[in-house]
Amino acid sequence: MQIKKVGVLGCGLMGSGIAQVSATAGYDVVVLEQDQKFLDKGFAGIDKSLAKFAEKGKLKEPVETVRARLKGATTREALADCDIIIEAIIENVDEKKKTFSALDATVKKDAIFASNTSSISITEVAASTKRPDRFVGLHFFNPVPLMQLVEVVRTIATNDQVFEAAYEFGKSLGKVPVRTSDKTGFIVNRLLVPYMLDAIRAFEEGVGSIPDIDNAMKLGCGYPMGPFTLLDFVGLDTTYYITHVMFEEFKERRFASPPLLKRLVMAGWYGRKTGKGFYDYADPANPVPSRL
Ligand code: CAA
Ligand code: NAD
Repeated sequence: MQIKKVGVLGCGLMGSGIAQVSATAGYDVVVLEQDQKFLDKGFAGIDKSLAKFAEKGKLKEPVETVRARLKGATTREALADCDIIIEAIIENVDEKKKTFSALDATVKKDAIFASNTSSISITEVAASTKRPDRFVGLHFFNPVPLMQLVEVVRTIATNDQVFEAAYEFGKSLGKVPVRTSDKTGFIVNRLLVPYMLDAIRAFEEGVGSIPDIDNAMKLGCGYPMGPFTLLDFVGLDTTYYITHVMFEEFKERRFASPPLLKRLVMAGWYGRKTGKGFYDYADPANPVPSRL
């Protein structure tokens, strides 16, 4: 099972990062988006990130060589000869099922399908295709070019060789893969999501201000980012969608969206990506807490 060509669905925060690390590792990559404007935005982020790595002498090849392996597309036929497809579109089960089901007839039969979902059942999405045995989760972490981990998710239907090929693929990207099974949230989000939601509840209850809670967790626990900085970084829209899936699965309050998260999403304040969330990023180098 040789992987040479990688297809990526979605060129947002995660898809652009997955495409970048795949091209950096030597794979030919095609990224599918809904519209050229999303490809332009994602590729601009890739260019910035590659330039940063080059500046630090961390790229083995010239930027242009890596960049030449990356192609954008807006029609799914461009993915027909990919050996693995990694999906990173919106965290919505119906959208993911619809997308994979349509791709199933276009992409060669022995290609591996993978989802980068944060919370949705891989088994459920896999069942929308005729290749549930060739379907895994490949859960990367934001920002993909810097974070070392990838969770490799097996369902009860995943073929053993396919799972090992996905694991080796993760390694070939320079990531550290961990094996996990198709339980909602896998390893990291099962632990991380309740922590981030609890930080919002603590703020709602007046335990501390947004910067004080952030600083407390950074300086008290050595976390690289406080929970509100991290929430804005992940995307409040994505976090809100994750709470729906996780609460539906476990019916436990710790996975439910706090009212404030819902309000921010309703207001269109998705965090860094929209310039406003728990912080205001009018000056991105000096975010100020939003008046909440
Ligand atoms: N590409 C290349 N370089 C980048 C980059 C990128 N995408 N992002 C940042 N950098 C560079 C910066 O330019 C900076 O370079 P200089 O040293 O030359 O200035 C360097 O990396 C360090 O960055 P910063 O100074 O901005 O900040 P930092 O030291 O805090 O590191 C970080 C940044 C690695 C993101 C760190 O803050 C961190 O690890 N944060 C936590 C991230 C995290 O928890 N991610 C998981 C989210 S949850 C998830 O992903 C799962 C899910 O399903 C929701
Ligand atoms: P995002 O909103 O930044 O990007 C999603 C992209 O998918 C958008 O550019 C959108 O135009 C595109 N898209 C939507 N439907 C599409 C379709 N049918 N075909 C092609 N492109 C389509 O979101 P994101 O943060 O990159 O999240 C993507 C996935 O990765 C989600 O499942 C999310 O849960 C997961 N994830 C997110 C993070 C994170 O920190 N943000 C971390 C790990 C996993």
